[in-house]
Amino acid sequence: MIERVRLGIMASGRGSNAEALLLACEAGLVDAEGALVVSNRPDAGVHEVAKRHGVPSLHLARNQFTEGGEFADALIAAFRERGVELIALAGYMRKVPPRLLRAYPRAVLNIHPALLPRYGGKGMYGLRVHAAVIAAGDTETGVTVHYVDEEYDRGPILLQAAGVPVLPEDTPESLAARVLRVEHTIYPRAVQMWIEQRRSAGGSGEPGEAW
Ligand code: GRF
Repeated sequence: MIERVRLGIMASGRGSNAEALLLACEAGLVDAEGALVVSNRPDAGVHEVAKRHGVPSLHLARNQFTEGGEFADALIAAFRERGVELIALAGYMRKVPPRLLRAYPRAVLNIHPALLPRYGGKGMYGLRVHAAVIAAGDTETGVTVHYVDEEYDRGPILLQAAGVPVLPEDTPESLAARVLRVEHTIYPRAVQMWIEQRRSAGGSGEPGEAW
């Protein structure tokens, strides 16, 4: 029997990448199972996504706590309680507390809708990314999945998919839609890569275990 990695997801918005990951798990394309979804927004669409897939979801935000350390500890406790081994950020619009990163070394991933290191960093999110790609006159763009570290969009790259065309008539919206379709296939592939790499490194799957 194949062991399934317990996957946590953090998202702030509609959750289409979260859904792509959960669907890929259900289809057996990724050897993982959704264990917990966390959002900083109570009204985020990702809560509905979680419900549809039978995954518990929580609203946990910095402003519910008097200090940042308490927020980080609440996140860590929530993920550990549900045995989460890998955390995928899927449109999470807040900085991840460093304490969470230390609790999950090399086990927090993010997806970015461009070819990092270009078009990343603070303020580079959503349509701004695609507007910048168009303004630069690039003829192709892509998707990056990377490890999360303490700086925005700076961690080592796990998987990158280039070759998404930028068409002369593109608007940021039309380009975002084309890139998003690629995100939905790349993120599950990257998560499966992470799982296979950990397996070949002999990781035991203990939550928070470094490998
Ligand atoms: C995606 O474009 C992702 O790359 C970025 O935020 C967006 C989230 O979209 N980090 P969704 O909520 O997954 O639909």
